[in-house]
Amino acid sequence: MSRLKDKVAIITGGANGIGKATAILFAREGAAIAIWDVQEEKGNELIKTLDETGVKAIFYKVNTADAGMVREAVTAVMKDFGKIDILINNAGILRDASLMKMTEEQFDTVIQVNLKGVFNCTKAVAPFMIERGYGRIVQASSVVALYGNFGQTNYVASKAGIIGMTKVWARELGRKGITVNAVAPGFIATEMIESIPEHILNAMKEKVPANKLGTAEDVANVYLFLASDEAGFVNGAVISVDGGAVV
Ligand SMILES: NC(=O)c1ccc[n+]([C@@H]2O[C@H](COP(=O)([O-])OP(=O)(O)OC[C@H]3O[C@@H](n4cnc5c(N)ncnc54)[C@H](O)[C@@H]3O)[C@@H](O)[C@H]2O)c1
Repeated sequence: MSRLKDKVAIITGGANGIGKATAILFAREGAAIAIWDVQEEKGNELIKTLDETGVKAIFYKVNTADAGMVREAVTAVMKDFGKIDILINNAGILRDASLMKMTEEQFDTVIQVNLKGVFNCTKAVAPFMIERGYGRIVQASSVVALYGNFGQTNYVASKAGIIGMTKVWARELGRKGITVNAVAPGFIATEMIESIPEHILNAMKEKVPANKLGTAEDVANVYLFLASDEAGFVNGAVISVDGGAVV
């Protein structure tokens, strides 16, 4: 299939989990891929896999929380690929603790990466999309942004903030031929949730009618739709990918 033929996609947090599954899917659909991640070894490994699909793929070591680094990476992508059609704002981290135990550092670190990182990437990429009157921006929120979650003041604040920014940018950039949408994954089996104890994971599964966790590919498929031309009239939406979880 070639739903993203001739498109250039930046995928942040693309070295692992949902981002990695997205890179593999997008490459299969014909997109050229720029992976932005802090994990150099995993990023370069992935490039070898992507090379096998025959598309152009480059890894850039980028900390999305660092605005200067993000600006430099955009310049590099423009030089290497000539344009940017798709930005998948997928990088995210957890530093869980209950309100009484959460340190200021834990709060700030998560906001810097999950919220400011999305601002940094979108602000740096948007001018190049505006120039061509075309763009697809998709960002990773979470179901917990809609319902809250014990021990995640910082994470929930960042993911709810992403929904807010999605709504603002859908208005601001929608006039320029760019759509901005968010995905709200439920419980997805990636490294991110590996540290969660077995009994809590089982309780999470029980909230899903099909009694299972989602896969990285489940989320990647929705990113694909929102990044494709077919989603041209979807803007400012938040799509849950949670198996119908009753949280
Ligand atoms: N797994 C879930 O259950 C779940 C649920 C809801 C939302 N999400 C969101 O989906 C996104 C992907 O999650 P995942 O489960 O694949 O996580 P993951 O931990 O498997 O992968 C996240 C990737 O982001 C990268 N990253 C972290 N900080 C970065 C930074 N500052 N700059 C660049 N890259 C950075 C990591 O190196 C890693 O490759 C995240 O935003 C996460 O919050 C995940």
